[in-house]
Amino acid sequence: MHHKRLAGAVALALFLGMGSAWAAKSDSCAHCHGTDGNSSSGQYPNLAGQSKDYLIAQIKAFKEGKRVNNMMSPSVRVLSDQDINDLADYFSSQTMNRGSFKPDPALAAEGKKLAEAAQCVACHQAGFKGLGEFPRLARQKTPYLIKQLKDYRDAARVSEVMGPTAKDLTDAQIEALGHYLGGL
Ligand code: HEC
Ligand code: HEC
Repeated sequence: MHHKRLAGAVALALFLGMGSAWAAKSDSCAHCHGTDGNSSSGQYPNLAGQSKDYLIAQIKAFKEGKRVNNMMSPSVRVLSDQDINDLADYFSSQTMNRGSFKPDPALAAEGKKLAEAAQCVACHQAGFKGLGEFPRLARQKTPYLIKQLKDYRDAARVSEVMGPTAKDLTDAQIEALGHYLGGL
């Protein structure tokens, strides 16, 4: 009896200890990305429900300087591989939501046509839900999506796959794609 209680207390202490170590890790991201990985500003991407492999790859890309952003890059410098894995585990297990975003219906319809013609789902998966190295795009922040597509087009973000895909897109087409994907 005594023993059982003690074991219980130890387990609880361990659990609470892990919980707070946890909170401390994702706390440094919450300011921009939201506590559960749903951010409240269009410039900060949602991390909730994003593919775990993709999250790990991007955090490492920022850490190694292969992807650069003044706001984001300083946050990941101190992270260990274990931290990166734990953070990716946590955020990928949350649910991405659309927040209060209301897509422009005409732009979204135009974006849908473009996405179908380009067969984006061949990689990004049905419903743009993402898988493995292919990021989820459904319900991602529209201003963020627009910036990324322009960055790929202008080679400010480098990807062998997305560079050629975005190369010939006009600003208007990119805006339409952003409204379509953000509203899914
Ligand atoms: C000061 C604000 C800020 C903080 C703090 C911050 N980020 Fe970011 N993060 C950003 C911005 C801005 C971007 C988008 C950069 C761009 O436009 O390429 C971003 C992008 C990302 C991406 C890429 C998402 C995608 O869809 O490609 C990941 C992953 C990420 N952050 C993880 C984290 C983690 C994990 C932490 C905490 C350890 C963190 N961030 C802390 C601002 C921040
Ligand atoms: C051949 C596979 C493939 C196709 C087709 C493809 N993508 Fe991608 N996409 C990727 C990969 C891989 C990445 C991650 C690249 C990286 O590491 O930066 C990506 C990243 C992205 C991102 C950045 C997401 C984020 O969270 O930062 C956007 C936006 C995007 N793709 C939009 C599109 C659109 C729109 C289309 C169709 C016009 C499309 N993609 C077609 C493979 C593809």
